[in-house]
Amino acid sequence: MIGDDANGFSDLDPFRVGFPLRSAYLGDGEEGDGAPNNGKFGRSSDDHDIMAIIECDTEYDVIEVNDKLKVSSYEAGLSLTWEQVGQKEVDGETTNMFKFRDGVSQPDVYGTYYVTAGATSGPTEKLWKETIAPTDFRAEHFGIPGNNLIWPGEFIFGYRRATGDIKWKPDIGRHDNQSTAEGLIPGVPKWAIDGTYQVFRRLTMKTGRFRTFLNTTGAQLNVSPDYVGALLFGRWANGEPIVRWPGVNTPGNNAPGPAEYALGANPDFRNNFTFIETYGLAPLRAGKVDPFPPPVSDPLGAVCPFASHIRKVNPRDSTTDQGGPAVTDRHRILRRASNFGKDPLPCENPDEEDQEDRGLLFFAYQTDLQDQFEFLQHQWANSVDAPIPGGIDPIIGQNSKLGENRVRKMTVNIFGITKEIVMPQEFVVPTGSGYFFTPSVTSLKDVFTV
Ligand code: HEM
Repeated sequence: MIGDDANGFSDLDPFRVGFPLRSAYLGDGEEGDGAPNNGKFGRSSDDHDIMAIIECDTEYDVIEVNDKLKVSSYEAGLSLTWEQVGQKEVDGETTNMFKFRDGVSQPDVYGTYYVTAGATSGPTEKLWKETIAPTDFRAEHFGIPGNNLIWPGEFIFGYRRATGDIKWKPDIGRHDNQSTAEGLIPGVPKWAIDGTYQVFRRLTMKTGRFRTFLNTTGAQLNVSPDYVGALLFGRWANGEPIVRWPGVNTPGNNAPGPAEYALGANPDFRNNFTFIETYGLAPLRAGKVDPFPPPVSDPLGAVCPFASHIRKVNPRDSTTDQGGPAVTDRHRILRRASNFGKDPLPCENPDEEDQEDRGLLFFAYQTDLQDQFEFLQHQWANSVDAPIPGGIDPIIGQNSKLGENRVRKMTVNIFGITKEIVMPQEFVVPTGSGYFFTPSVTSLKDVFTV
């Protein structure tokens, strides 16, 4: 459909290579459910050209739009190869099927505008939320407290990336003319500007297995199942970062009390932490207060394990195998997700519960598949030693090698004693994947019209 223009992308670009040939690199299993050719979507024999995502407030609207799309696609000579229904909420909450809050941390981006609450028109001139004190150096280079701004070219083609000299000014460097484009990926065709690469992963989640693991491991370590979950993710189920509520000093079940727990639902402050506290917390504007317990500094991974999911995929200010935080900022992704399958109704037999196929429809957006999504999965999540030695990502880490039973191990610190947690089976199994290009609305109208 894109035609010869796609030659603007290198032959080696994973987008052109295609997902089936990249899956082994990502650690997807060579056999069993996780093997790409056993999935429901994106097998090497499949021939999907287009993915359409329909998102509406009501199921009724989705069905209506879907019906219209099917008719017009059919008339245009397209045929439907696969369909998947998703939903945002599990048991009425914005969580994933493990009941952990989703959509908590996203990169904030230079040059993005927001409309002030109550304003009738926008965008305003504000490039960031007005939370950090204007006299502080972070006010210009951070979005919400804790989130330093990332260059838009990391997520949208045609804008400045974080490579080369970092200019500390909110010049987002839009490049309409590729021949003079500074920072534009060489060879990217003009129709790609304002578009982005999309990664799609259908990730089946073994909720029975996960819950059983939290219970048995909690009993073995003499901590609550909630705490084991917080160690695996680096956040409590409500989204509260474990470094802002380490839990270990709490008698009983270690979970934060309701007042402190509200941090997980607070979009202004639930990302207000780093792991090393290199820069400390930014002072806030008059009238703004972060009322929650401050983060602890955790350079040794004693509170938030180095292998925990969020520390694997965004080690923030920690020094990693790649270098300092500026390098980490070049491996960020924008994420969107929906759930699929029925809400889990815990039954006594976890294997029986897991016979129901449910999980996450994971989408990541970035301009460099290899340096961003693939890097996070292959180089960090699947590694025992990177970004910082401490084990494999317990949620998404994968080992495709035959015979090793895909065992996952991670190091945790329980009441000052280092222990190894072993997860004999995976909690998440990829059951369909694909790489797509998401064009801008302009390119959709000008180039991709059939
Ligand atoms: C079923 C599979 C997955 C589950 C259950 C899961 C769950 C979570 C949860 C609970 C969080 C913390 C809340 C939030 O920030 O939204 C999170 C954050 C994140 N996840 Fe996943 N995730 C999954 C797959 C993936 C994959 C495949 C990747 C990429 C390779 C990924 C990358 C991220 C990133 C970048 C963050 C934000 C980290 C931060 O900035 O703090 N996740 N995930």
